[in-house]
Amino acid sequence: MTDGAVTLVGAGPGDAGLLTLRGLRALQEAEVIVADRLGARAVLAQLAAEGHELAAEVIDVGKLPGHHPVTQDAIDELLVTHARAGRRVVRLKGGDPFVFGRGREEQLFCEAAGIRVEVVSGVTSAVAVPALAGIPLTQRGVAETFTVVSAHDQIQTLPGGRDHTVVLLMGVNTLGHSAHVLASGGRGADCPVAIIEDGFGDGQRVTVGTLATIVALAAARQVRSPAVVVIGDVVALSPFAVPEPAA
Ligand SMILES: C[S@@+](CC[C@H](N)C(=O)[O-])C[C@H]1O[C@@H](n2cnc3c(N)ncnc32)[C@H](O)[C@@H]1O
Repeated sequence: MTDGAVTLVGAGPGDAGLLTLRGLRALQEAEVIVADRLGARAVLAQLAAEGHELAAEVIDVGKLPGHHPVTQDAIDELLVTHARAGRRVVRLKGGDPFVFGRGREEQLFCEAAGIRVEVVSGVTSAVAVPALAGIPLTQRGVAETFTVVSAHDQIQTLPGGRDHTVVLLMGVNTLGHSAHVLASGGRGADCPVAIIEDGFGDGQRVTVGTLATIVALAAARQVRSPAVVVIGDVVALSPFAVPEPAA
């Protein structure tokens, strides 16, 4: 082991208020911060604006969807190189590092190189972004369970009906396919759907429809990533959900 170490810190979904105290302490003690774009950069900017002085060098490895200026291999090498040089490195990742964040891969890579790794959990967008629209993922009598899925994955095998909430991350580009598959299963075409774009950001916006209508609504409103898609009866609890007019 070397003196340097890596701390994987979850920055939360983009508001410094949702960074943990332990995460803030790690940032304050860091000499190098290797930061993602989504969530992480916004949190660093907010901390600076609020007068939290961070001494660390910040290295931006920000990933845009489908566009990776710094490859995952290069990020892994960067972490090891700085830690081997004896520096305290924070790898600042959006949301929680272990939820579709490749955090475990980075941890294993560093540990294989003899670097100590600590993980500081973050608030995942899968839960916090729906909450912005007043959507709980479970609610007694409405939904007893939820599944978080990346839309890159197969959703064909998802069990349950509309009382089993589905949260799609990275789901905007494949929304048509997901809506079609889920509508033809136990949920039905009139199952409520919400899309929450750019949670905690300037472009925060909520679009509510059903599995039958959401694709056309998203196209009309030019919905963009990043966004969290929530599918299930819990969506009807949102103040953004307009009740159907009485027949
Ligand atoms: C690669 S995943 C990383 C998830 C992250 N580890 C987490 O726990 O939130 C990126 C996806 O998370 C979602 N996401 C993250 N932050 C978001 C935000 N502030 N607003 C809306 N969606 C967000 C989007 O679905 C985005 O495509």
